[in-house]
Amino acid sequence: MFVEQITLPLADDLHVHLRQDHLMQTVVPLIDKGGAGRVLVMPNLKPHIKTTKQALNYQQALKALNPRVEYLMTLYLNPELTIEEIQKAATAKIIGIKSYPRGVTTNSEDGIENYEIYYALFAEMEKLGLILNLHGEVPSNAEKNICILNAEENFLQHLEKIHKNFPKLKIVLEHITTKAAVEKVEELGLTVSATITPHHLDLTVDDWAGQNHNYCKPVAKYPSDRAALRAVIKSGNPKFFLGSDSAPHLRSAKENSCACAGIFTTPLLLPYLADTFEKLNCLNKLKDFCCTFGREFYGLSALEQTITLKKISQKIPAEYNHIVPYRAEDELQWRIID
Ligand code: DOR
Ligand code: ZN
Repeated sequence: MFVEQITLPLADDLHVHLRQDHLMQTVVPLIDKGGAGRVLVMPNLKPHIKTTKQALNYQQALKALNPRVEYLMTLYLNPELTIEEIQKAATAKIIGIKSYPRGVTTNSEDGIENYEIYYALFAEMEKLGLILNLHGEVPSNAEKNICILNAEENFLQHLEKIHKNFPKLKIVLEHITTKAAVEKVEELGLTVSATITPHHLDLTVDDWAGQNHNYCKPVAKYPSDRAALRAVIKSGNPKFFLGSDSAPHLRSAKENSCACAGIFTTPLLLPYLADTFEKLNCLNKLKDFCCTFGREFYGLSALEQTITLKKISQKIPAEYNHIVPYRAEDELQWRIID
């Protein structure tokens, strides 16, 4: 059937980087323009968001810039985090605790290597219903033959172990990129789910090697991995939902001999997804992926405001205030109409 218009609720983008200072001022007003009405905000700022107080201050700043969007906040898992702080966070409706492995991505220098030291915190989170958001990679290690191509697969043992120890703890394996991750999340209990980004449904290694604007962490992998991500989206499995991992960096930080990892999709999020879902012949799965599965896993209410996507082509801008968006200057087949 030929579809040329889709109306759906504003999306839940359950993994987004909104930054601070100038980047924040550019990015935050664009969230609802891209079709999202509620976002889970990552805490990897400088300094990291480690306390409830910092998270609430950050939330205020985001609201002041764009009050049309709801901001769900997270804290950065770190050795200073206490059970009392977890309790404070739960009372203040902080939604999740984000774990970054040491050194694998932007601002993760003091990230995690050993998960067991956090078991007391995980037990408290399980009790209070806080979500554990996992960046699922292990640090590269030449002796163990670990590099960015198998870092996610090697992480899955940690996911499994945490889940076995805390079966009621809700865990989201963020921005999955491999067939192995899809299979592991399918295999584990209903408290384990995963986010998938729009760009990992499009890209493979060939698209980022030598092309800094397509470089992000975890890196896009093999065609067979991308095929597994596409297949699970098409299957409509509710354990897999939208988290864009939109991660803006200035052009100067991307067009650089040591490029920052991150792909910026916020301003055109739903048009990117409509394009991809149409190519995959599964536009009928778009709404649940963007608006239902994630919200149900997180236990959130439905968003009432809707947007309409129409099959009208548009050119992706070359940049937004020195931030180059995904597929800059390319054509998109869908746009959001007012
Ligand atoms: O590509 C990425 N960019 N992956 C992450 O995990 C972090 C993000 C960022 O903050 O730039
Ligand atoms: Zn991220």
